[in-house]
Amino acid sequence: MVCLGNICRSPIAEGVLKKYLPKDVFFIDSAGTSSYHVGCKPDHRSIEVAKRYGIFIENQKCRQFNVNDFKNFDHIFVMDKKNLYQVLSLLDDSKYSKKVQLLSKEEVSDPFYGGINEFVDCFKLIDKACKKLAEKLLSND
Ligand code: 4NP
Repeated sequence: MVCLGNICRSPIAEGVLKKYLPKDVFFIDSAGTSSYHVGCKPDHRSIEVAKRYGIFIENQKCRQFNVNDFKNFDHIFVMDKKNLYQVLSLLDDSKYSKKVQLLSKEEVSDPFYGGINEFVDCFKLIDKACKKLAEKLLSND
């Protein structure tokens, strides 16, 4: 799960998808295209909203997306089109381009400069998309 900062959207997406998929089968992680917040825990608003829905994300630690992720993961889901272009610009082998997709057709926009309501909307959109994604991944097994 990839966004810009890896402190608002992708930590929520990591936590939500982990809720929907068995951890002994799926390894789920998140990263940011930027290095702004490397080593930090998620934004307190993401932590708070996730907690309201029963998901604990406080122990996550921000890291930057890197080219090894193309090899190490089967799927790379990005939150918005800027993330998509940014990730695709790092491609060192075009065979990996098919792994990179938007999480949701309706982009998950950046809530960083918004208030708690933007984080709630963000959570709901991510939850809807992850539920659909988990059903798809499980049906392909
Ligand atoms: P995220 O949100 O990409 O969902 O983690 C952002 C977090 C931080 C910044 C921008 C977006 N920033 O500019 O620091």
